Amino acid sequence: MGWVHSRRDHGGVIFVDLRDHTGLLQVVFNPELSGDAHQLAGDIRNEFVLSVTGTLRARTDETINPGLPTGRVELMASELEILNTSLPTPFALDDDAHITENVRLKHRYLDLRRPVMQRNLRVRHQACRIARNHFDEAGFIEVETPMLTRSTPEGARDYLVPSRVNPGSFFALPQSPQLFKQLLMVGGVDRYYQIARCFRDEDLRADRQPEFTQIDIEMSFVTSDDVMAIVEDLLRKLFGELADVQFDGAFPRMTYDEAVSRFGSDRPDTRFALEIVELSEVFKESGFKVFRAAIEGGGAVRALNLKGGSDMSRKEIDDLGNYACEFGAKGLAWIKVAGGEWQSPIVKFFSDDEREALAAAMGAEDGDLLLFGADTSKVVYDVLGALRCRIAAQRELIPAGAWKFLWVTDFPLVEYDAGEDRHYALHHPFTAPRPADGERLETDPLSVRADAYDIVLNGVELGGGSVRIHSPAMQQRVLKVLGIEEAEAREKFGFLLDALAHGAPPHAGLALGLDRLVTLLVGGESIRDVIAFPKTQRAACLLTEAPSSVDRDQLRGLGLRTVQTS
Ligand code: AMO
Ligand code: AMP
Repeated sequence: MGWVHSRRDHGGVIFVDLRDHTGLLQVVFNPELSGDAHQLAGDIRNEFVLSVTGTLRARTDETINPGLPTGRVELMASELEILNTSLPTPFALDDDAHITENVRLKHRYLDLRRPVMQRNLRVRHQACRIARNHFDEAGFIEVETPMLTRSTPEGARDYLVPSRVNPGSFFALPQSPQLFKQLLMVGGVDRYYQIARCFRDEDLRADRQPEFTQIDIEMSFVTSDDVMAIVEDLLRKLFGELADVQFDGAFPRMTYDEAVSRFGSDRPDTRFALEIVELSEVFKESGFKVFRAAIEGGGAVRALNLKGGSDMSRKEIDDLGNYACEFGAKGLAWIKVAGGEWQSPIVKFFSDDEREALAAAMGAEDGDLLLFGADTSKVVYDVLGALRCRIAAQRELIPAGAWKFLWVTDFPLVEYDAGEDRHYALHHPFTAPRPADGERLETDPLSVRADAYDIVLNGVELGGGSVRIHSPAMQQRVLKVLGIEEAEAREKFGFLLDALAHGAPPHAGLALGLDRLVTLLVGGESIRDVIAFPKTQRAACLLTEAPSSVDRDQLRGLGLRTVQTS
């Protein structure tokens, strides 16, 4: 039984490729041998659903199809039942068909019949199975946490659900199970995992969905090393079994500071070098005003050296400059080193000493292209961090088949938002400061490092976690640094503070983004390809046309009225 993938009429003999999720089988309807079935086969069209009975036989030598796993056999049909018909499909169900994503999403049930989508869903299923077994064997239990809950601050907007029974009150859909898994630790569960759905109303990108799935874990009486070890073991299994990639030894670790200063990112792609070089010392008295001004204003000058990049055309460099501007750059100064000369609009401003120091710092030699960022430290890192990835992709600097895991550790606990004049938790407000740094919480919060760790693969942030605060006093202090005063803390997190005050064990955990993980496992481009029914970039479902308006009675029942805001 299966679907008609294609049908060919060879002057009397009809060939049908019958398809299901396991592949294709050629079925032959022969006017002499197939009887009534041959007659009926005249009616069938692509995507009809058939039940065929017959005799499996070897194909003759000339008709063997080596490109197909079943290419040496065919089914000589003796009976045919058409189980269902199908309208003509809006696109051919081949993997190489170029179909726009919106058409695929609108007819997702057809798109899912394509082999690549079948494979993606099955790899996703296997990943969940391996994760469940892994945690089960290590003594974890899966516990479901509520979907209708209070808002958990993970940094995005909440999806709200109005309560009919309590008019004017709202549930929030969980941005993650963070607080409940901590409460489970207080509840003595000891080791928890959940394949958990999370909801975040945030601006969408290729690697973000408004609802997505985490492999979420939490453990009591452990250190960050314990959490990292159990996650590493899982990732080793997943990549070994599902992608045939083996990893020797412990995954490398790098502090946040090192990641940012070398790669301009807290999730560096370490499959290629092209590292950032600090030049602020070289240019602090430069005759080139752009550089000097950046440094004098408290910013920095840094550069990349693209070996062999001097063959880039002006147009290519200008395109990189435009790309840099998307990340906040005001320009992209450059120097080409070719034939012993420096070609550049800016070198005329440099003193001999500067030139010498620059050449030494950059290791400049013939064939190089130097690209400069001069701005606030953060903008320079963002710009050069983005450029190095763009250039690596364009110039194929990434070795085929390279897989680089990296733990990034020692994140700052908080960051400062000048616009709002307040501190935000870099991870979430329940992450513990490193014990040695806790005393500087009030006096110098930006210098406090968190006991947090992210797992990065090929420049993708796969997951993140931390040791949690288990003392109510420390939790209060951290909330206060985040501008949440005691009354507000009680109102929002009173239940957590109470729980911490009733014998909360030390605990730590992590969550992996399942969608991103599976995307990497299948070598996919977008997380939408590993989610059965994803939303578009505009956070809509094209298949069901959700979200949609609701009728007035339904709103009235909830005590709601909609108003036009713009
Ligand atoms: P965090 O917010 O870092 O941590 O999320 C963990 C991982 O979830 C994935 N992820 C997403 N995937 C798809 N679409 C999204 N919109 C999206 N947002 C996040 C990422 C990310 O690394 N409660 C903490 C974890 C913990 O501390 O244990 C948390 O949710 O791969
Ligand atoms: P200008 O003097 O503004 O014409 O700039 C000379 C060169 O420096 C041009 O190549 C600009 O793209 C580049 N440039 C200008 N501002 C910056 C900046 N903030 N960072 C890096 N390069 C810059």
